[in-house]
Amino acid sequence: MSVETQATAADSGAKATERFRANKSFTSEVTTERVNKLASRAIKALVDTVVEEKVTYEEYNALKAWLIQVGETGEWPLFLDVWIEHAVEEVANENRESSKGTIEGPYYVPNSPVQQTPGTLPMREDEPGTPLVLHGKVTSVDGNPLTGAKVEIWHADDLGFYSQFAPGIPEWNLRGTILTDDEGRYEIHTVQPAPYQIPTDGACGKLIDAAGWHAWRPAHLHLKVSAENHQLITTQLYFQAGEHLTDDIASAVKPELILDPQDVTDGSGREVGYDFVLATVN
Ligand code: DHB
Ligand code: FE
Repeated sequence: MSVETQATAADSGAKATERFRANKSFTSEVTTERVNKLASRAIKALVDTVVEEKVTYEEYNALKAWLIQVGETGEWPLFLDVWIEHAVEEVANENRESSKGTIEGPYYVPNSPVQQTPGTLPMREDEPGTPLVLHGKVTSVDGNPLTGAKVEIWHADDLGFYSQFAPGIPEWNLRGTILTDDEGRYEIHTVQPAPYQIPTDGACGKLIDAAGWHAWRPAHLHLKVSAENHQLITTQLYFQAGEHLTDDIASAVKPELILDPQDVTDGSGREVGYDFVLATVN
């Protein structure tokens, strides 16, 4: 058994919670009117469920115990990013004229090591998995190439684990920032990730089990693409014919985000192109 299989929901949860607190700033500028409206609607949705489904005290207490556990193990970032974030992303970007985005998920770490293109992501000497080259262009919606654009990428390893969230993996493993050349081109050398299973041994896992669901996300690369005076895109890329493209537990797959890598003729792995179009800042 590899050390990585010892990653627990409590581990990933605690680290994702810590990471959220470090990364995300939010002001308390949500107005009373807005909080009143949103909180009232959310509570009403639960109350309606209780009334319409005739929820029993047994079920109510099971929910209470479960919510307490989600908090204790730090799994709120996991729960929210799997079941809610996709809707927030759809609303946030519905009118944006750029390449498609999708959820960020809980495992982004800013300030990964920067390389001028072409770059190879930091990886272990014996990093398992098929070598993969992802390359393409970053342009503005008007077609202008964006020089010095930042392509940040992070993804799980061949066993489905993320560095900095599962134990025993070097800090920046399979995480990096590649800068585009003067034609807006980027090229990233990495390995193909495996499908990802959200931790099954914690509160989220308990819910999945109790509801008879599955815990899988399709194999994916996470990216943030940004350039001066342009709107940053947070997205993911998936793999044609991969498992769970149609039943992603996080509901974050879009047809535009599916790659179809081809074998490289010298047998050294696979390669695929993907271009990013960024909208200008309003
Ligand atoms: C979760 C993990 C991911 O890798 C991801 O992309 C989305 C959600 C999660 O465990 O919540
Ligand atoms: Fe992920």
